Amino acid sequence: MLSSKIHSGMRIVKLILGVESSCDETGIALYHSERGLLAHTLHSQIALHNEYGGVVPELASRDHVRYALPLIRSVLQKADCSLKDVDAIAYTQGPGLSGALLVGASVACALAYTLDIPTIGVHHLEGHLLSPLLSRPAPEFPFVALLVSGGHTQLMQVDGVGRYTLLGESVDDAAGEAFDKSAKILGLDYPGGALLAKLAQNGTPGRFKLPRPMLHSGDLDFSFSGLKTAVLTLAQQHELTDQTRADIAHAAQEAIVDVLATKALSALGQTGLDQLVVAGGVGANRLLRSRLSEKIGKRGGKVFYPDLEFCTDNGAMIAFAGAMRLQQQAAQPGYRFNVKPRWDLRELNYAD
Ligand code: KG4
Ligand code: ZN
Repeated sequence: MLSSKIHSGMRIVKLILGVESSCDETGIALYHSERGLLAHTLHSQIALHNEYGGVVPELASRDHVRYALPLIRSVLQKADCSLKDVDAIAYTQGPGLSGALLVGASVACALAYTLDIPTIGVHHLEGHLLSPLLSRPAPEFPFVALLVSGGHTQLMQVDGVGRYTLLGESVDDAAGEAFDKSAKILGLDYPGGALLAKLAQNGTPGRFKLPRPMLHSGDLDFSFSGLKTAVLTLAQQHELTDQTRADIAHAAQEAIVDVLATKALSALGQTGLDQLVVAGGVGANRLLRSRLSEKIGKRGGKVFYPDLEFCTDNGAMIAFAGAMRLQQQAAQPGYRFNVKPRWDLRELNYAD
Protein backbone atom coordinates (compact mmCIF):
# COMPACT_ATOMS: atom_id res chain seq x y z
CA MET A 1 0.00 0.00 0.00
CA LEU A 2 1.14 3.54 -0.59
CA SER A 3 2.31 5.22 2.55
CA SER A 4 4.01 8.26 1.16
CA LYS A 5 3.45 10.92 -1.43
CA ILE A 6 4.01 10.02 -5.04
CA HIS A 7 6.48 12.17 -6.91
CA SER A 8 5.90 12.49 -10.60
CA GLY A 9 8.67 14.67 -12.00
CA MET A 10 8.59 17.83 -9.88
CA ARG A 11 5.02 17.25 -8.77
CA ILE A 12 3.58 15.61 -5.71
CA VAL A 13 0.70 13.40 -6.73
CA LYS A 14 -1.90 12.51 -4.13
CA LEU A 15 -5.29 12.34 -5.77
CA ILE A 16 -5.60 10.10 -8.82
CA LEU A 17 -8.65 9.81 -11.04
CA GLY A 18 -9.01 6.36 -12.63
CA VAL A 19 -10.88 5.77 -15.91
CA GLU A 20 -11.72 2.24 -17.09
CA SER A 21 -13.38 1.77 -20.50
CA SER A 22 -11.77 -1.33 -22.02
CA CYS A 23 -14.97 -3.27 -22.69
CA ASP A 24 -18.58 -2.95 -21.56
CA GLU A 25 -18.23 -1.10 -18.27
CA THR A 26 -17.44 2.54 -17.63
CA GLY A 27 -15.64 2.58 -14.28
CA ILE A 28 -14.49 5.78 -12.59
CA ALA A 29 -12.71 6.14 -9.24
CA LEU A 30 -10.74 8.54 -7.08
CA TYR A 31 -7.78 7.09 -5.19
CA HIS A 32 -5.82 9.09 -2.64
CA SER A 33 -2.25 8.03 -1.87
CA GLU A 34 -2.70 8.60 1.86
CA ARG A 35 -6.44 8.17 2.40
CA GLY A 36 -7.06 5.23 0.05
CA LEU A 37 -10.07 4.85 -2.20
CA LEU A 38 -12.30 7.91 -1.81
CA ALA A 39 -15.10 7.09 -4.26
CA HIS A 40 -15.85 4.89 -7.22
CA THR A 41 -18.74 4.27 -9.56
CA LEU A 42 -19.59 1.99 -12.42
CA HIS A 43 -21.97 1.94 -15.32
CA SER A 44 -22.53 -1.52 -16.81
CA GLN A 45 -23.63 -1.90 -20.42
CA ILE A 46 -24.96 -5.43 -19.92
CA ALA A 47 -28.55 -4.42 -20.75
CA LEU A 48 -27.38 -2.63 -23.90
CA HIS A 49 -25.59 -5.67 -25.35
CA ASN A 50 -27.97 -8.28 -24.00
CA GLU A 51 -30.14 -8.66 -27.09
CA TYR A 52 -27.05 -9.23 -29.28
CA GLY A 53 -25.69 -12.07 -27.10
CA GLY A 54 -22.30 -10.37 -26.77
CA VAL A 55 -20.59 -6.99 -26.71
CA VAL A 56 -21.11 -4.82 -29.83
CA PRO A 57 -17.94 -2.67 -29.97
CA GLU A 58 -19.49 0.39 -31.66
CA LEU A 59 -22.35 0.52 -29.14
CA ALA A 60 -19.85 0.09 -26.32
CA SER A 61 -17.79 3.11 -27.50
CA ARG A 62 -20.86 5.32 -27.81
CA ASP A 63 -22.04 4.37 -24.35
CA HIS A 64 -18.64 5.21 -22.84
CA VAL A 65 -18.94 8.64 -24.49
CA ARG A 66 -22.34 9.05 -22.88
CA TYR A 67 -21.27 8.08 -19.36
CA ALA A 68 -17.62 9.05 -18.84
CA LEU A 69 -18.07 12.71 -17.91
CA PRO A 70 -21.27 12.36 -15.84
CA LEU A 71 -19.61 9.55 -13.84
CA ILE A 72 -16.49 11.65 -13.28
CA ARG A 73 -18.72 14.43 -11.94
CA SER A 74 -20.47 11.91 -9.73
CA VAL A 75 -17.29 10.51 -8.09
CA LEU A 76 -15.97 14.03 -7.50
CA GLN A 77 -19.22 14.90 -5.79
CA LYS A 78 -19.22 11.69 -3.72
CA ALA A 79 -15.65 12.40 -2.56
CA ASP A 80 -16.44 16.06 -1.96
CA CYS A 81 -13.64 17.08 -4.32
CA SER A 82 -13.41 19.24 -7.41
CA LEU A 83 -11.53 18.64 -10.65
CA LYS A 84 -8.89 21.11 -9.48
CA ASP A 85 -7.98 18.72 -6.63
CA VAL A 86 -7.03 15.91 -9.04
CA ASP A 87 -3.23 15.50 -9.36
CA ALA A 88 -3.04 12.82 -12.08
CA ILE A 89 -5.31 10.74 -14.31
CA ALA A 90 -4.86 7.01 -14.89
CA TYR A 91 -6.73 5.36 -17.74
CA THR A 92 -6.87 1.87 -19.22
CA GLN A 93 -4.58 1.93 -22.25
CA GLY A 94 -5.19 -1.72 -23.16
CA PRO A 95 -5.84 -4.52 -23.80
CA GLY A 96 -9.48 -4.23 -24.86
CA LEU A 97 -11.75 -2.93 -27.61
CA SER A 98 -9.92 -0.17 -29.44
CA GLY A 99 -12.89 2.20 -29.80
CA ALA A 100 -13.87 1.76 -26.17
CA LEU A 101 -10.28 2.29 -25.01
CA LEU A 102 -9.99 5.42 -27.17
CA VAL A 103 -12.95 7.01 -25.41
CA GLY A 104 -11.40 6.59 -21.95
CA ALA A 105 -7.95 7.62 -23.17
CA SER A 106 -9.21 10.76 -24.92
CA VAL A 107 -11.37 11.84 -21.99
CA ALA A 108 -8.45 11.27 -19.59
CA CYS A 109 -5.89 13.05 -21.75
CA ALA A 110 -8.15 15.98 -22.66
CA LEU A 111 -9.04 16.57 -19.02
CA ALA A 112 -5.41 16.25 -17.94
CA TYR A 113 -4.39 18.72 -20.66
CA THR A 114 -6.86 21.33 -19.47
CA LEU A 115 -5.82 20.77 -15.84
CA ASP A 116 -2.10 20.63 -16.70
CA ILE A 117 -1.61 17.38 -14.76
CA PRO A 118 0.13 14.10 -15.74
CA THR A 119 -1.54 11.01 -17.19
CA ILE A 120 -0.58 7.37 -16.96
CA GLY A 121 -1.79 4.56 -19.24
CA VAL A 122 -2.55 1.40 -17.25
CA HIS A 123 -2.58 -2.24 -18.39
CA HIS A 124 -6.06 -3.59 -17.65
CA LEU A 125 -4.72 -6.91 -16.35
CA GLU A 126 -2.23 -5.17 -14.07
CA GLY A 127 -5.29 -3.43 -12.64
CA HIS A 128 -6.91 -6.81 -11.97
CA LEU A 129 -3.64 -8.26 -10.59
CA LEU A 130 -3.21 -5.47 -8.08
CA SER A 131 -6.89 -5.10 -7.15
CA PRO A 132 -6.65 -7.49 -4.14
CA LEU A 133 -4.30 -4.92 -2.58
CA LEU A 134 -7.34 -2.64 -2.25
CA SER A 135 -9.02 -5.13 0.13
CA ARG A 136 -8.13 -5.95 3.74
CA PRO A 137 -6.25 -8.07 4.62
CA ALA A 138 -4.02 -7.47 1.60
CA PRO A 139 -1.48 -10.01 0.34
CA GLU A 140 2.23 -9.30 0.51
CA PHE A 141 4.65 -9.81 -2.37
CA PRO A 142 5.56 -12.36 -3.63
CA PHE A 143 2.34 -14.21 -4.47
CA VAL A 144 0.79 -16.30 -7.20
CA ALA A 145 -2.12 -14.66 -9.03
CA LEU A 146 -4.88 -16.56 -10.77
CA LEU A 147 -6.25 -14.13 -13.32
CA VAL A 148 -9.61 -15.32 -14.56
CA SER A 149 -11.70 -12.99 -16.69
CA GLY A 150 -13.81 -13.05 -19.83
CA GLY A 151 -10.70 -12.72 -21.99
CA HIS A 152 -7.88 -14.21 -19.92
CA THR A 153 -6.96 -17.23 -17.83
CA GLN A 154 -3.44 -16.94 -16.50
CA LEU A 155 -1.35 -17.98 -13.55
CA MET A 156 1.30 -15.39 -12.75
CA GLN A 157 4.04 -15.11 -10.20
CA VAL A 158 3.95 -11.57 -8.85
CA ASP A 159 7.18 -10.53 -7.13
CA GLY A 160 6.26 -6.86 -6.89
CA VAL A 161 4.57 -4.07 -8.81
CA GLY A 162 5.65 -4.50 -12.42
CA ARG A 163 7.45 -7.78 -11.76
CA TYR A 164 5.32 -10.50 -13.29
CA THR A 165 6.24 -13.97 -14.54
CA LEU A 166 3.74 -15.98 -16.57
CA LEU A 167 3.47 -19.51 -15.18
CA GLY A 168 0.68 -20.80 -17.42
CA GLU A 169 -2.33 -19.69 -19.44
CA SER A 170 -5.25 -20.92 -21.49
CA VAL A 171 -4.31 -22.21 -24.91
CA ASP A 172 -7.81 -21.42 -26.21
CA ASP A 173 -10.94 -20.08 -24.47
CA ALA A 174 -10.69 -18.14 -21.22
CA ALA A 175 -12.47 -19.48 -18.12
CA GLY A 176 -15.02 -16.63 -18.32
CA GLU A 177 -15.65 -17.52 -21.96
CA ALA A 178 -16.25 -21.14 -20.95
CA PHE A 179 -18.82 -19.94 -18.41
CA ASP A 180 -20.42 -17.56 -20.92
CA LYS A 181 -20.56 -20.03 -23.81
CA SER A 182 -21.97 -22.82 -21.61
CA ALA A 183 -24.53 -20.35 -20.26
CA LYS A 184 -25.56 -19.35 -23.78
CA ILE A 185 -26.11 -23.00 -24.73
CA LEU A 186 -28.39 -23.27 -21.68
CA GLY A 187 -30.39 -20.26 -22.85
CA LEU A 188 -29.02 -17.75 -20.33
CA ASP A 189 -28.35 -14.08 -21.07
CA TYR A 190 -24.89 -12.65 -21.76
CA PRO A 191 -22.57 -12.54 -19.87
CA GLY A 192 -23.79 -15.73 -18.33
CA GLY A 193 -21.10 -16.61 -15.75
CA ALA A 194 -22.99 -15.43 -12.68
CA LEU A 195 -26.33 -16.68 -14.09
CA LEU A 196 -24.87 -20.14 -14.74
CA ALA A 197 -23.53 -20.22 -11.18
CA LYS A 198 -27.01 -19.36 -9.91
CA LEU A 199 -28.67 -22.02 -12.06
CA ALA A 200 -26.11 -24.59 -10.86
CA GLN A 201 -27.32 -24.16 -7.28
CA ASN A 202 -30.39 -26.26 -8.17
CA GLY A 203 -28.33 -28.87 -10.03
CA THR A 204 -28.08 -32.52 -9.05
CA PRO A 205 -24.47 -33.27 -8.10
CA GLY A 206 -23.03 -36.16 -10.14
CA ARG A 207 -25.85 -36.51 -12.70
CA PHE A 208 -23.47 -35.39 -15.46
CA LYS A 209 -19.70 -35.47 -15.52
CA LEU A 210 -17.87 -33.23 -17.96
CA PRO A 211 -14.22 -33.54 -19.05
CA ARG A 212 -11.45 -31.70 -17.21
CA PRO A 213 -9.16 -30.76 -20.12
CA MET A 214 -5.41 -30.65 -19.43
CA LEU A 215 -5.94 -31.43 -15.75
CA HIS A 216 -2.98 -33.79 -15.78
CA SER A 217 -0.93 -32.11 -18.53
CA GLY A 218 1.93 -31.60 -16.07
CA ASP A 219 2.17 -27.88 -16.87
CA LEU A 220 0.15 -24.89 -15.71
CA ASP A 221 -1.71 -24.31 -18.98
CA PHE A 222 -5.48 -24.59 -19.43
CA SER A 223 -7.83 -25.49 -22.25
CA PHE A 224 -11.56 -24.79 -22.12
CA SER A 225 -12.79 -24.96 -25.69
CA GLY A 226 -13.57 -28.70 -25.50
CA LEU A 227 -15.80 -28.07 -22.52
CA LYS A 228 -18.31 -25.96 -24.43
CA THR A 229 -18.50 -28.72 -27.08
CA ALA A 230 -19.18 -31.26 -24.32
CA VAL A 231 -21.87 -28.99 -22.86
CA LEU A 232 -23.42 -28.60 -26.32
CA THR A 233 -23.44 -32.37 -26.84
CA LEU A 234 -25.18 -32.89 -23.47
CA ALA A 235 -27.72 -30.19 -24.28
CA GLN A 236 -28.49 -31.80 -27.65
CA GLN A 237 -28.84 -35.28 -26.14
CA HIS A 238 -31.39 -34.32 -23.48
CA GLU A 239 -34.70 -32.59 -23.27
CA LEU A 240 -33.81 -29.27 -21.69
CA THR A 241 -36.15 -29.21 -18.71
CA ASP A 242 -35.32 -26.72 -15.95
CA GLN A 243 -33.82 -29.54 -13.88
CA THR A 244 -31.64 -30.80 -16.74
CA ARG A 245 -30.41 -27.29 -17.48
CA ALA A 246 -29.51 -26.90 -13.80
CA ASP A 247 -27.78 -30.30 -13.79
CA ILE A 248 -25.68 -29.39 -16.85
CA ALA A 249 -24.86 -25.99 -15.32
CA HIS A 250 -23.76 -27.78 -12.16
CA ALA A 251 -21.47 -30.11 -14.11
CA ALA A 252 -20.00 -27.26 -16.19
CA GLN A 253 -19.23 -25.15 -13.14
CA GLU A 254 -17.70 -28.17 -11.35
CA ALA A 255 -15.44 -28.91 -14.33
CA ILE A 256 -14.20 -25.32 -14.74
CA VAL A 257 -13.67 -24.79 -11.01
CA ASP A 258 -11.94 -28.15 -10.58
CA VAL A 259 -9.38 -27.35 -13.29
CA LEU A 260 -8.78 -23.80 -12.03
CA ALA A 261 -8.37 -24.89 -8.40
CA THR A 262 -6.12 -27.85 -9.21
CA LYS A 263 -3.79 -25.80 -11.42
CA ALA A 264 -3.69 -22.92 -8.93
CA LEU A 265 -2.62 -25.37 -6.26
CA SER A 266 0.08 -26.81 -8.53
CA ALA A 267 1.33 -23.27 -9.18
CA LEU A 268 1.81 -22.76 -5.44
CA GLY A 269 3.62 -26.11 -5.29
CA GLN A 270 5.91 -25.29 -8.20
CA THR A 271 6.84 -21.80 -7.02
CA GLY A 272 7.07 -22.72 -3.33
CA LEU A 273 4.86 -19.72 -2.51
CA ASP A 274 1.94 -19.92 -0.10
CA GLN A 275 -0.26 -16.96 -1.03
CA LEU A 276 -2.73 -17.06 -3.90
CA VAL A 277 -4.51 -13.99 -5.17
CA VAL A 278 -7.59 -14.45 -7.34
CA ALA A 279 -8.41 -11.63 -9.73
CA GLY A 280 -10.80 -10.98 -12.62
CA GLY A 281 -14.54 -11.44 -13.08
CA VAL A 282 -14.62 -15.22 -12.60
CA GLY A 283 -13.03 -14.58 -9.19
CA ALA A 284 -16.55 -13.60 -8.11
CA ASN A 285 -17.59 -17.27 -8.43
CA ARG A 286 -18.51 -18.60 -5.00
CA LEU A 287 -17.74 -22.25 -5.71
CA LEU A 288 -14.26 -21.29 -6.96
CA ARG A 289 -13.72 -19.27 -3.80
CA SER A 290 -14.81 -22.01 -1.43
CA ARG A 291 -12.90 -24.72 -3.32
CA LEU A 292 -9.68 -22.69 -3.30
CA SER A 293 -10.02 -21.70 0.33
CA GLU A 294 -10.56 -25.33 1.31
CA LYS A 295 -7.69 -26.77 -0.76
CA ILE A 296 -5.18 -24.05 0.04
CA GLY A 297 -6.20 -23.84 3.69
CA LYS A 298 -5.40 -27.55 4.05
CA ARG A 299 -1.94 -26.87 2.66
CA GLY A 300 -1.34 -24.08 5.17
CA GLY A 301 -1.51 -21.36 2.52
CA LYS A 302 -3.77 -18.34 2.17
CA VAL A 303 -6.10 -17.11 -0.56
CA PHE A 304 -6.93 -13.46 -1.14
CA TYR A 305 -9.85 -12.14 -3.12
CA PRO A 306 -10.65 -8.60 -4.09
CA ASP A 307 -14.00 -7.46 -2.66
CA LEU A 308 -16.69 -8.63 -5.08
CA GLU A 309 -17.17 -5.17 -6.57
CA PHE A 310 -13.46 -5.03 -7.47
CA CYS A 311 -13.42 -8.49 -9.10
CA THR A 312 -15.13 -7.48 -12.31
CA ASP A 313 -13.99 -4.47 -14.33
CA ASN A 314 -13.91 -1.27 -12.30
CA GLY A 315 -12.25 2.13 -12.13
CA ALA A 316 -10.77 1.64 -8.65
CA MET A 317 -8.23 -0.93 -9.85
CA ILE A 318 -7.12 1.44 -12.62
CA ALA A 319 -6.73 4.42 -10.26
CA PHE A 320 -4.83 2.18 -7.81
CA ALA A 321 -2.55 0.58 -10.44
CA GLY A 322 -1.91 4.07 -11.84
CA ALA A 323 -0.90 5.26 -8.36
CA MET A 324 1.46 2.29 -7.96
CA ARG A 325 3.03 2.89 -11.36
CA LEU A 326 3.50 6.60 -10.78
CA GLN A 327 5.47 5.63 -7.70
CA GLN A 328 7.83 3.60 -9.88
CA GLN A 329 8.06 5.37 -13.19
CA ALA A 330 7.55 8.74 -14.79
CA ALA A 331 4.16 9.82 -16.08
CA GLN A 332 3.61 9.95 -19.84
CA PRO A 333 5.26 12.98 -21.40
CA GLY A 334 2.78 15.41 -23.01
CA TYR A 335 -0.77 14.57 -23.91
CA ARG A 336 -0.45 12.52 -27.07
CA PHE A 337 -1.99 9.15 -26.53
CA ASN A 338 -2.41 5.79 -28.17
CA VAL A 339 -4.23 2.68 -27.07
CA LYS A 340 -3.06 -0.93 -27.15
CA PRO A 341 -5.96 -3.29 -27.93
CA ARG A 342 -3.47 -6.17 -27.71
CA TRP A 343 -0.82 -5.78 -25.06
CA ASP A 344 1.19 -8.60 -23.49
CA LEU A 345 1.49 -8.14 -19.73
CA ARG A 346 5.07 -9.41 -19.95
CA GLU A 347 6.05 -6.24 -21.83
CA LEU A 348 5.26 -4.33 -18.69
CA ASN A 349 7.98 -5.59 -16.38
CA TYR A 350 9.95 -2.67 -15.10
CA ALA A 351 13.04 -2.45 -12.95
CA ASP A 352 12.75 -1.73 -9.23
O1 KG4 B 1 -12.90 -9.21 -15.48
P1 KG4 B 1 -14.23 -9.11 -16.12
O2 KG4 B 1 -15.27 -8.24 -15.48
O3 KG4 B 1 -14.12 -8.59 -17.59
C1 KG4 B 1 -13.08 -8.93 -18.44
O4 KG4 B 1 -13.26 -9.97 -19.11
O5 KG4 B 1 -12.07 -8.21 -18.44
O6 KG4 B 1 -14.78 -10.61 -16.27
C2 KG4 B 1 -16.00 -10.89 -16.88
C3 KG4 B 1 -16.20 -12.39 -16.87
C4 KG4 B 1 -17.41 -12.83 -17.70
O7 KG4 B 1 -17.02 -13.93 -18.50
C5 KG4 B 1 -18.42 -13.24 -16.63
O8 KG4 B 1 -19.35 -14.22 -17.08
C6 KG4 B 1 -17.52 -13.79 -15.55
O9 KG4 B 1 -16.43 -12.87 -15.53
N1 KG4 B 1 -18.19 -13.83 -14.23
C7 KG4 B 1 -18.43 -14.99 -13.58
C8 KG4 B 1 -19.10 -14.62 -12.37
N2 KG4 B 1 -19.22 -13.27 -12.35
C9 KG4 B 1 -18.66 -12.81 -13.50
N3 KG4 B 1 -18.15 -16.26 -13.89
C10 KG4 B 1 -18.52 -17.21 -13.00
N4 KG4 B 1 -19.17 -16.96 -11.85
C11 KG4 B 1 -19.48 -15.68 -11.48
N5 KG4 B 1 -20.10 -15.46 -10.33
ZN1 ZN C 1 -11.34 -7.29 -16.82
